[in-house]
Amino acid sequence: MQRVELVPGELSFSRFIQGYWRLPDWQLSPQQLVAFIEQGLELGITTTDHADVYGAFTEERLFGQALKLAPHLRDKIEVVSKCNILFPCEQQPSVAVKHYNSDRDYIVAAAERSLREMGIDTLDVLLIHRPDPLMDADAVADAFQSLKADGKVRHFGVSNFSNAQFSLLQSRLPFELVTNQLEISATSSQYLFDGTLDYLQQQRVKPMAWSCLGGGDIFQAYEFKELRDCAAKMEDAMGASLDQILLAFVLALPSQAMPIIGSGNIERIRRQIGAADIKLDRQQWFALLEAARGIPVP
Ligand SMILES: NC(=O)c1ccc[n+]([C@@H]2O[C@H](COP(=O)([O-])OP(=O)(O)OC[C@H]3O[C@@H](n4cnc5c(N)ncnc54)[C@H](OP(=O)(O)O)[C@@H]3O)[C@@H](O)[C@H]2O)c1
Repeated sequence: MQRVELVPGELSFSRFIQGYWRLPDWQLSPQQLVAFIEQGLELGITTTDHADVYGAFTEERLFGQALKLAPHLRDKIEVVSKCNILFPCEQQPSVAVKHYNSDRDYIVAAAERSLREMGIDTLDVLLIHRPDPLMDADAVADAFQSLKADGKVRHFGVSNFSNAQFSLLQSRLPFELVTNQLEISATSSQYLFDGTLDYLQQQRVKPMAWSCLGGGDIFQAYEFKELRDCAAKMEDAMGASLDQILLAFVLALPSQAMPIIGSGNIERIRRQIGAADIKLDRQQWFALLEAARGIPVP
C-alpha cells in the first residue's frame, strides 16, 4: 500500500483510509472489530477516520472498546477525528438545534472527549468538521496550540472548507494544516472545478476524500445509471469492477487525494484497494465525468 507523506518525517497516511462513520451500523462485537482492524492492517490500511458526532456520538466509544481489547493496535494506526458538529440526540441532552461550535474551549473539550471515548492519549490529527460562520480563527488557533502543547493532538486540519476558510485559519497558525477532508467523487465533482483542489495542490496539502462511491448510491440510484453504464463498458476491458473504476477516478487527481473507504465489508475493501493498480486514460476519465454530470466539459 502506498504511503502519502503529509508532514515530512512526522506524519504519513496509508493511501486508502478506513472510515468509521458507519461503524455503529455494522453491529460488530469489540472482538470482531479488532479482527476487522487487523484485516485492514494486513492490507496496509493504517489510517482510521472518526468523528465525535458519528453514530450520534457513539462511534468513538465502540472503536475504543476494540482498542481496549487490543491496545497494541494503537501504535499501528493513525487516528483522525473531527469536531464542531452538534445536534439533538441522546448523548447531547442540552442541544436543541443542530449547529456548529468552534469556540476555543469547546474544541479543547471535544478533543479530550474523543481521547476519553477511544481510550487513547493522543490524536494523530484533529479536523474542524464543517466550516462555521461563527468561527473565530484566532480562537480555533488558540485551541489547536493548546492541544498540541499538551501533547493531546499531534497535527490539525479541516474538513469541507473553502480555500478562503482554509487560508484564514492557516494565517493564524504557527504550523501547517495537514489536510482538508472533502467530498470528492465522479458524482460530486464541484471541487475539481471551483479551485479547491488546485489550491490544495499549490499548497502541497493532500486532501482526504469522503464518499468516493456516493455513499453507496452509485450502485443502485437511478440518477447514476448513465455512470454505471459508462463504467460497465470499461469493466470487462480493464478487468476492473465499478467500485474500483470510481476509486481510480479519485486516485487520478494530481492533488493526491486519499480515498476514505466507507465499507465495513472486508472483501469489498480488499477489492477496492485494488483500484491503485487501475490507470484510467484521459478519455476514460472524462467519459466517467461526463456520464456522472450528464454534460460534456465545455
Ligand atoms: N468529513 C465529512 O464531512 C464526511 C462526510 C461523510 C463521510 N466521511 C468519512 O468518509 C468515510 C466514507 O464515506 P462513505 O461511507 O459515504 O463512503 P462510500 O465508500 O462512498 O460509501 C460506503 C457505502 O457504500 C456501500 N458499498 C460499498 N461498496 C459497495 C458495493 N460494491 N456494492 C454495494 N454497496 C457498496 C457500503 O456498504 P457495505 O458496508 O455493506 O460495503 C457503505 O454503505 C466515512 O466513513 C467517514 O469516515 C466524512
